[in-house]
Amino acid sequence: MPRPIQSIIHLNAMSHNMQVIKDFLTKSTHQPALCAVIKANAYGHDIEHTVNGFAKADMFAVIQMTEAIRLRQYGVKKNILLLAGFYDLEDLNHIDQYQIQTMVHTQFQLDLIKHNPPKHPISIYIKINSEMNRLGFELSELPHIFKQAKIMQDKGYIDQIHFATHFPSSDNLYNNVLPFTDQIFSTLNQMIPKEERKKHIVTLANSATLLRYPNLGHPDYQMVVRAGIISYGLNPFPKSFCAPLPLKPVMELTSQIIAIRSLQAGDPVGYNSQFIAQQPMKIAVVAAGYADGYPREVNKNAYVLVHNTPCTIIGKICMDSMMIDITHLEDVQLFDSVILFGEGVLTADTVAEFSHSIPYTIVSKTTERVICTPNPTKD
Ligand SMILES: Cc1ncc(COP(=O)(O)O)c(C=O)c1O
Repeated sequence: MPRPIQSIIHLNAMSHNMQVIKDFLTKSTHQPALCAVIKANAYGHDIEHTVNGFAKADMFAVIQMTEAIRLRQYGVKKNILLLAGFYDLEDLNHIDQYQIQTMVHTQFQLDLIKHNPPKHPISIYIKINSEMNRLGFELSELPHIFKQAKIMQDKGYIDQIHFATHFPSSDNLYNNVLPFTDQIFSTLNQMIPKEERKKHIVTLANSATLLRYPNLGHPDYQMVVRAGIISYGLNPFPKSFCAPLPLKPVMELTSQIIAIRSLQAGDPVGYNSQFIAQQPMKIAVVAAGYADGYPREVNKNAYVLVHNTPCTIIGKICMDSMMIDITHLEDVQLFDSVILFGEGVLTADTVAEFSHSIPYTIVSKTTERVICTPNPTKD
């Protein structure tokens, strides 16, 4: 029998979030298309569930080729973008075979296309480095890179040539992305005649950028936003600033009580006796530990819900279990359900606060041994 911990994926929350984001985009000046970012196995939500859950997305973005191929095997016909591009010729052949779109961020990738012309022309996004200094060409290199891409387009190796960047500090409310955006469009405008610009997509915004700058873009180009964390109903900002959309958390992490015990004052709990009972108390052991992905570093405020009531986590989180205080609860039984996070007051955002982390890590780190179950019904 599998352990009782499971992540329940609420499919209705997924489609709700897509609709909310699409409605938000419809009101923005440039009406960008919506690319759902589903890398890292859909931030831990299982890529398979995105096929229906994110059916309203216009396109998908992944990191791994295996994820892109899985989507095609599930019957997805929409554009799929490889966010970091390809690594070798085998990947390039897969791009050709499965008609995947790819980011191009190095001369190596351009050369690989040049020397191994695909059977069908492929669409590329030229990645522009921002102050992130992670992937991408410098703005000053763009004319030269674009020229090479155009030559390959004329030869029929490349289909569409698009552009992308990724801002490093968009979740920082004091950071201004507009000066760099202006530089990008002024460089593009110098390279591309006005009448040809609409053929090109420019994608700049992730979740935080989209929420802070809904009208970011340029009227001459097609705009696409890359929505990751908000698609899963979570907040890209530090806790002091809430995402201004009525999103619903998609993942609920639940488990069960697997032991109940009584303690006397002075009894220790867990490794290194980090917790000592100050008075007689009742505690429960929950089948959820750091090897399931629950963060070990939670602070003293961390709690779970039993019978919808907060129960403080006591002692250190173990590999497979944690101990909680249930003294204040009547009638707790073995195998009663425990909510580690979900919706309402205790979301993955809350657990991120307990552990000085971000919701991205809380959901994407749920491990393989956590059973991932889709729930198609709950609103
Ligand atoms: C290149 C790129 N675009 C978009 C995203 C989505 O970001 P978010 O989940 O903050 O929307 C990411 C996430 O890390 C990314 O690396």
